[in-house]
Formats: sequence, structure tokens, C-alpha cells
Amino acid sequence: MISYTVYKIIHYGGIFTAVAALGAFLTLSAAGGTPLVREPWSKRLVAAHGAGLFLVLLGGFGMLARLEVTQGLTLPGWVWAKLAIWVILGALVTLAKRRPEGAGWMLLALPALAVLAGAVALTKPF
Ligand code: HEM
Repeated sequence: MISYTVYKIIHYGGIFTAVAALGAFLTLSAAGGTPLVREPWSKRLVAAHGAGLFLVLLGGFGMLARLEVTQGLTLPGWVWAKLAIWVILGALVTLAKRRPEGAGWMLLALPALAVLAGAVALTKPF
């Protein structure tokens, strides 16, 4: 049986990978540059971002199972809040592709979203 600690390490691995890849992708988008400059890094960063978000999910739900906070299919409010942040982190890639002029602001919001997710897990406010 995978322990809570191992799930937390997987969660951290996913967080750092997703945030690092997304940060680099948003910088590439904000810096503009021709597609030639951006490829193949753009594709590599999107793949790393996706892999990171998967590990966040795997580690997060693994910890939930060990914490026994899920009653049947109901999740506590703080987990829904974290899932919402996870979805936003997923959507930022598409948003930056569609609105590269806004990538700078998204880059600013990225650490704030990650800290918020961590703080929600630590304090479980609702
Ligand atoms: C798929 C959505 C997510 C789920 C289900 C989830 C679930 C969890 C759980 C169960 C914990 C442990 C709470 C405890 O031990 O009491 C945790 C901790 C943490 N999560 Fe998540 N999480 C998710 C998304 C995220 C995201 C997107 C981030 C940041 C980018 C994040 C950052 C953290 C951090 C920093 C901690 C450690 C808090 C601490 O104990 O010090 N999580 N998460």
C-alpha cells in the first residue's frame, strides 16, 4: 500500500513540474518570438505541464484516500477549491496560446495560485 508520505512526495513532484513548465511556457508566450523560436520547447513544456498536473491529481487523491476525508463521493469544500485551482492551472496554457499579450499577467498569477492551493490544504477553511 502506498503511504501518505509517498503520495505527498508525488504531489510535490507534480506541483513543481507543473509550475516550472507553466512558468517557462508563459515566459515564452509573453516574450513573443516566432514559432520557430518557440518550437520544440513549446510542445515539450506543454507535455511536462500535463504530466505535472497528472501527478498533482494522483498524489492529491492518494493523500485524500489515506486521510479518509472522502465520504462516498462527497468531497469537502477545500478539495473542490483545490480542484478549481487545478483546472485554472490546466486552462492557462490554452489561454496563453489564445491571448499571448496577457501571458505576463498569467505569469504573475501563477505563484499566487500555487500558494493559495497550499494554504487551502494547510488550513482547510471550509
Ligand atoms: C487535484 C486537485 C488537488 C487535490 C485533490 C489536492 C489534495 C491535497 C491533499 C489531500 C493535501 C494534504 C492535506 C493534508 O495533509 O492535510 C494537499 C497538500 C498540498 N497541496 Fe494539494 N491538492 C490538489 C491540487 C493542488 C495544487 C494545484 C497545488 C499547487 C499548485 C497544491 C498544493 C499543495 C501543497 C503545497 C500541499 C501541502 C500543504 C501542507 O501540508 O503543508 N495542491 N493537497
